[in-house]
Amino acid sequence: MKVGIIGSGGREHAFCVSLKNSNKIDKIYCFPGNAGTSLIAENIETDLNNFEKLKEIIQKLKIDIIIVGPEKPLVDGIVDFLEKNQIKVFGPNKISSQLEGSKIFTKNLCKKYNIPTANFGVFKNQDKSLSFLKKCKYPVVVKADGLAAGKGVYICERFDQSSNAVKEIFNGKFGEAKEVLIEEFLKGEEMSFFIISDGESYKKFGTAQDHKRALEGDKGQNTGGMGAYSPSRLENLKLEEKILKRIIDPTLKGLKDLNTDFKGFLYAGLMILNGDPFLIEYNVRMGDPECQTILPRLKTDFVEILKACVDKNLKSTRIDWFEEKSLCVVLVSKGYPEKFQNNVEIKEISALKLRENEYIFHAGTKIMENRIYSNGGRVLNFVTKSHNLKEGRNDLIKLIDNLHWENGYFRKDIGFKIIN
Ligand code: AMP
Ligand code: GLY
Repeated sequence: MKVGIIGSGGREHAFCVSLKNSNKIDKIYCFPGNAGTSLIAENIETDLNNFEKLKEIIQKLKIDIIIVGPEKPLVDGIVDFLEKNQIKVFGPNKISSQLEGSKIFTKNLCKKYNIPTANFGVFKNQDKSLSFLKKCKYPVVVKADGLAAGKGVYICERFDQSSNAVKEIFNGKFGEAKEVLIEEFLKGEEMSFFIISDGESYKKFGTAQDHKRALEGDKGQNTGGMGAYSPSRLENLKLEEKILKRIIDPTLKGLKDLNTDFKGFLYAGLMILNGDPFLIEYNVRMGDPECQTILPRLKTDFVEILKACVDKNLKSTRIDWFEEKSLCVVLVSKGYPEKFQNNVEIKEISALKLRENEYIFHAGTKIMENRIYSNGGRVLNFVTKSHNLKEGRNDLIKLIDNLHWENGYFRKDIGFKIIN
């Protein structure tokens, strides 16, 4: 079978490695991929906004299944477009992708189907927002509606911060804004919860805990994710039942009532408060770096699962997992998430010796004349699968130190809530 992967991050390299392990794979193509994927697949440079061109390439190469990694093409309707052209795709359609594409769409769904979430209001202009914010209990959370690549969320302790947030949003910092979302701040522990669905039935696809803040001790700015471990320490059967019954099932029912369904990975970003789950946000894809911790734990052939999903056959497919836990440390370019330097060679990467159950997934890297260079904020993902996360993490830290990459920074405390 030939599979095509859309995207170029650590998540997509992890997809690539899991697919490569299957004996059902003949060839993998990545659109556009990174240096890591180029070593086991064929990278194809093409404009992901040009669906027509992409379709021509896929048809010419006779690719059997396409898997879409990032949210932007999903929200832009790539699945609808490719399926209309008889190409099999694993990912949600444009309507369902609004779960991530519009926070207000999701909030309204929560309201209609009684899905537990932070109390919220939607405001159409600056004046109405500000008069509400003057009377609010703090902290509050102010959010821009559309995709903002992990930005566009302000946690505000005081009125001056929230009024600044509202002004920035309405002044177009995240694209044209017609509305703003103001939410109650929920104080609990976050958990990333995943399901996989073929549009008719779904199965749980693991949990993880991301570490979004740039600095150790969960300090500093929000980032795309500095590391993760899986499964989340909060995971238990009772909580899982509540998540499925109170959050996932009514969401899928809501989509059904809109005459659509959900195919692909659905990622619920949850806040757990005294054992009860609240929905913070949906993503219509795998998490990054969560994916890099979840896929190495997957025992079942990933190709079989993808094929079952595009053939609407997931119900009769078992999904098994390895017992070990996993942990991912992200090596980023110094300065990320603000200013950082690209095109810095990572000279010693091919000299690193990985033990069994250790992985390096590339993210922002590129290859030129057999040399590997940085090409983004998040550069490499170091992953261990282990019964002892503390030892596993120590080994990863030694591995990163052995890289001697002076342009890099990483958090040494990933998993601190479960390790200490
Ligand atoms: P989002 O992009 O909606 O996931 O928000 C980014 C991050 O902001 C989340 O991962 C949370 O850490 C935090 N956050 C968002 N909404 C809330 C909320 N209502 N209460 C507390 N923290 C929040
Ligand atoms: N790890 C957060 C995300 O993928 O959005």
